[in-house]
Amino acid sequence: MRAGPEDLAHTLADYRRVAEAGLPAGVAAYVNGGAGEEVTLRRNEAALDALPLMPRVLRHVHQCDTRVTLLGAQLDHPFLVAPVAWQRLVHPDADCATAAGATAQGARMVLSAQATTPLAQARAAGALCDWFQLYWRGREGTLTLAHRAADAGYAALMLTVDAPVAGPRPRELRASFTLPEGLVAVNLAGLPPTDGASLEGLMAAAPRWDDLAWLCAAAPLPVMVKGILHPGDAAQAIAAGGAGIVVSNHGGRVLDGLPASIEALPGVAAAVAGRVPVLMDGGIRRGADVLRALALGADAVMVGRPVIWGLAAAGATGVAHVLRLLRDELRIAMALTGCSTLADVGPQLIFGRH
Ligand code: FNR
Ligand code: LAC
Repeated sequence: MRAGPEDLAHTLADYRRVAEAGLPAGVAAYVNGGAGEEVTLRRNEAALDALPLMPRVLRHVHQCDTRVTLLGAQLDHPFLVAPVAWQRLVHPDADCATAAGATAQGARMVLSAQATTPLAQARAAGALCDWFQLYWRGREGTLTLAHRAADAGYAALMLTVDAPVAGPRPRELRASFTLPEGLVAVNLAGLPPTDGASLEGLMAAAPRWDDLAWLCAAAPLPVMVKGILHPGDAAQAIAAGGAGIVVSNHGGRVLDGLPASIEALPGVAAAVAGRVPVLMDGGIRRGADVLRALALGADAVMVGRPVIWGLAAAGATGVAHVLRLLRDELRIAMALTGCSTLADVGPQLIFGRH
């Protein structure tokens, strides 16, 4: 019998190796690369590694309950699948496989605006694929998109605000990566075209605070705001009507030199002060990293590249296995730090803090 990825991969890092071995070099550069010299990309993981957990012993940990409620809906775990564009690059079943694998493990998935799969099809492939990420496309275009998501049964929107301009990605350039012909962001069909020709054109088309407030008031669904690192921006996003904050540097893919998401998280969490959910993404590679983020103020995390490694390695099965590993690791870490439920998780779990 041929070994499956579950036999070869026992950690998320193992999945990275399996995926990288099987992907064309250009696609691997697109998925795994970051902006500039990738300082921020490395920092996301390194800053998590640098936070030792403080164990607690001899406690009666009678369960390790990972359930969390976000925007009124209960989830089995405090991790979601981050929006990732162009999943068809790594597997023909693309977003449908990711939706199926995530839903099988009770994890919510956020569909990317740049998915090649129609909204309704992704949702039908996995019921927990019910949040939709979007980029600003002008007031009219963005509202059209919001209605498309609502009509397809999605429950929330995530507006990504940290990438009005793309960062240079030398790793992709060195690998001569270009998007292959035929990949189409089908859910954006018919929207007014964007002028991507110049930095000035892109910035002129970028949303501002009044646009966010307008969208939050006009949209048929709650709008979370993805790509916040500054506590003041988090407060302003809530004032504009944002239903949640995602602390993110876009996986180190936009501006190199930013702090790690985990470094920015405590400041944002303090500014938000429990008014709306705080999510964090960037560098989550093990269950202990989920615990670290929750300890420093996140209500949940999102996972980007590791899910794509699972998808590349084994489609829906690989996605499910990646999320299963994360869940098992998280529960063990909870047990050994003395946490029966996520309500027990706090900064005291991090060595040197209380
Ligand atoms: C992304 N990310 C992203 N974000 C977004 O808002 N819309 C998108 O379409 C994409 N596309 C995308 C493609 C690829 C290949 C990657 C790796 C990432 C960013 C993503 O949602 C998330 O913020 C990061 O991936 C989190 O970091 P980790 O978990 O990959 O370290
Ligand atoms: C990226 C864009 C699609 O990070 O968000 O590749």
